[in-house]
Amino acid sequence: MEISWNLPEMVSSAYAPLFVSHSRIIAYKGSRGSGKSEAMAIKVIYDIVTKPYVNWLVLRRYANTNRQSTFTLIQKVANRMGVSGFFQFNASLPEITYKPTGQKILFRGADKPLSITSISVETGNLCRQWVEEAYQLESEEAYETIEESMRGVIDDPEGFYQTIFTFNPWSERHWLKKRFFDEKTKVDDVLALTTTYKDNPFLDEDYIGRLIELKRRNPRRAKVAVDGEWGVAEGLVFENFVVENFDLTEVLKDAIPVHGLDFGFSHDPTAFAEAAVNLKTKDIYIFNELYKTGMFTKDIFNWLVVNGYQNTTITADCAEDRLIAELRALGIRRINRSKKGKGSIMYGIDFMQGFTIHILPSCVHAAEEFNSYAFSKDKDGNWINKPVDKDNHFIDALRYGLEPLIMPNKNKSDRMEEFKKLGLGR
Ligand SMILES: Nc1ncnc2c1ncn2[C@@H]1O[C@H](COP(=O)(O)OP(=O)(O)OP(=O)(O)O)[C@@H](O)[C@H]1O
Ligand SMILES: [Mg+2]
Repeated sequence: MEISWNLPEMVSSAYAPLFVSHSRIIAYKGSRGSGKSEAMAIKVIYDIVTKPYVNWLVLRRYANTNRQSTFTLIQKVANRMGVSGFFQFNASLPEITYKPTGQKILFRGADKPLSITSISVETGNLCRQWVEEAYQLESEEAYETIEESMRGVIDDPEGFYQTIFTFNPWSERHWLKKRFFDEKTKVDDVLALTTTYKDNPFLDEDYIGRLIELKRRNPRRAKVAVDGEWGVAEGLVFENFVVENFDLTEVLKDAIPVHGLDFGFSHDPTAFAEAAVNLKTKDIYIFNELYKTGMFTKDIFNWLVVNGYQNTTITADCAEDRLIAELRALGIRRINRSKKGKGSIMYGIDFMQGFTIHILPSCVHAAEEFNSYAFSKDKDGNWINKPVDKDNHFIDALRYGLEPLIMPNKNKSDRMEEFKKLGLGR
């Protein structure tokens, strides 16, 4: 087969190492839209077609997210590279086969480790791995088990193993930093790189405009999303959270479910939070989220119904009386408005700070917000006890949801006040 790919035209030079390096590990942290996923899809196809011994494992945190992301992207890129006719795309598995040789591109999730250890390929070796959105892999140990499936002798004398990680570096506390980026602690034979939107010549002006706007609007978040730097923990409102897997059935036995809704539209997302609160052990378990811009009342209603929340008690943002009334009229019977009292934000935050907050890894937006919701600074650069009111939509939704658990005491004293005014109390 005659193929003439002009790689420098197809990918930016920031991704050249993907096509020349033999490092055992290449770790790409990067800003939003820096071209990581696209470059990796090109690399997947390139290695299959040019190296007959290569089979790929494409790994994400959850197996069922591959079809709509990595699989679709690789298919699109194979088309662009003019070779899709040589591949068989099986979307239902999903799986991709290179027809001339039978080499495979396999898709798996860290949620199903057994489906990885049992992989065997017909030709060549399983010697390439792409870990997409690696930030979502919260457990280093779980990852190590998966990595162990990539071993054995490669028949091809030129052959080598390689794993590539791509991710947005939301927090400096992630194991990826110690393992691949920090000089003192990083493993051998790793190439650790950073890319930003400036490394992606294929972005449109609109997208770049939004990134630059984010720099102005929320510099802390922009550090990660625009500059591709590690998110810093200093000044975070919540230090008491962990992103981890938990057994929901077990958790729900002793916990109270809470539901909150924060409304947004074009710029801000509409956010829904579902969590379980254990008042005895002081744990909050976050296990479901909605996070989406451009939702009309009807869309919110549909989402709530489809996901089984039609008859759930939901506390919603009191600034949006009309939306609440509309949702109630449509049939969300038990939606209530949050109370707005002086200091209610800090009151809610204080309450949440008294718990350990566990976030299920599938709640990616919740995790992002907890990793970037920070206190403000005064003009001298000192932290002040007031959070920056930005990118806190999920957290607001959760706060509303928690309100019935926070308010009882307050209500009682409020009621006492009322009694006093009426001359009825002591
Ligand atoms: N090599 C390329 N050829 C053509 N278009 C590209 C290429 N690289 C990037 N793009 C364009 O830029 C967009 C952003 O690139 P990509 O999705 O790869 O970024 P990313 O770094 O994976 O972003 P995120 O961190 O948000 O996942 C793509 O949707 C595509 O339109
Ligand atoms: Mg990507």
